[in-house]
Amino acid sequence: MSTPVMDTAAPAAAPSTAPLVVVEDVARTFDVSAPWLNRVLERKPRQLLHAVDGVSFEIARGQTLALVGESGCGKSTVARLLVGLYAPTRGRFWFDGQDAHAAYRSAQGRQLRRRIQMIFQDPYASLNPRWRVEDIVAEPLREHGLLRDPAALRERVGQLLRSVGLSPHDMVKYPHQFSGGQRQRISIARALATQPAFLVCDEPTSALDVSVQAQVLNIMKDLQRQQGLTYLFISHNLAVVRHVSDHVGVMYLGRLVELADKRTLFAQPRHPYTRMLLEAIPKLHATGQARTPVQGEVPNPLNPPSGCAFHPRCPHANARCQAERPALQTIGGVRVACHAVEEGRLR
Ligand SMILES: Nc1ncnc2c1ncn2[C@@H]1O[C@H](COP(=O)(O)OP(=O)(O)O)[C@@H](O)[C@H]1O
Ligand code: SF4
Ligand SMILES: [Mg+2]
Repeated sequence: MSTPVMDTAAPAAAPSTAPLVVVEDVARTFDVSAPWLNRVLERKPRQLLHAVDGVSFEIARGQTLALVGESGCGKSTVARLLVGLYAPTRGRFWFDGQDAHAAYRSAQGRQLRRRIQMIFQDPYASLNPRWRVEDIVAEPLREHGLLRDPAALRERVGQLLRSVGLSPHDMVKYPHQFSGGQRQRISIARALATQPAFLVCDEPTSALDVSVQAQVLNIMKDLQRQQGLTYLFISHNLAVVRHVSDHVGVMYLGRLVELADKRTLFAQPRHPYTRMLLEAIPKLHATGQARTPVQGEVPNPLNPPSGCAFHPRCPHANARCQAERPALQTIGGVRVACHAVEEGRLR
């Protein structure tokens, strides 16, 4: 006999406390081999580039995880994997308890794409210059068949523009009539059109002047508070991440090297790469204090260093570091991949 009162399942109306986003050991490899004939004639082997190699993280509902690292570390590849532009070579992405890549391949893909939206770095490149703002912002609504009536569409576009601090009167204009910051607000309005739960933001303010960056970041934070949005926020700049994130993941050559809550990461960075990135941030309150520029460069991912990929740049590297790749493990409540931290050589 069924006893609904004793049912252990949560009531349908209760919001789930499970993380909205769970990424499990996700990897993406690109085949960058020369064409087959050249390979045969020139006796070249097949070449695989491991852009993302076993990344795992979770994001709780309404929170922001920032992913940082220098150019080429695999951040955009993670973003593109999450929005379904790439399929993973390995691993799983669970979105709200659902296997996202299985869904992307199925009839539910459309529904998922509505709930996961992406904001790109360059708002000019991502906005069609020949379209009026009204059509740009309304496009996802039309595409997903959410609103058809022209008056209702205009009304909704007006609301969306207002929500990002623009005027409904702006809808008759074209992208070139706006500043960079305003164009990024238009991109945000468009991303919000389908009422997504999760926004993947790939360097959303990196193309903007510093003063404008702060305005756009504030709008994003307000929208998050008002709508309970969950963000993956990608930046090469740790200083930007400080204002928007709850947790921070630091990537190096396709892997996470440190994952911590923001306060801990900034107050007590563990991984030598995180420390190097932090020391490069200009110190606002210590005038005259020279910052330490980032030393060296990210290695060629087609020929990664042995052992710890950071060892050629690391002041704490030793023989073990050259030979053995450190695994990401929990040390002092923080996820970190470093032999020196594990051995207690680094405090
Ligand atoms: N479609 C692709 N084909 C081949 N290589 C790629 C592709 N996309 C990215 N890569 C390579 O993968 C690595 C990671 O790139 P990316 O994810 O763009 O890093 P980031 O966003 O951190 O700068 C880089 O070496 C890049 O050249
Ligand atoms: S494992 Fe070794 S080389 Fe890598 S970051 Fe730690 S100390 Fe440096
Ligand atoms: Mg990128």
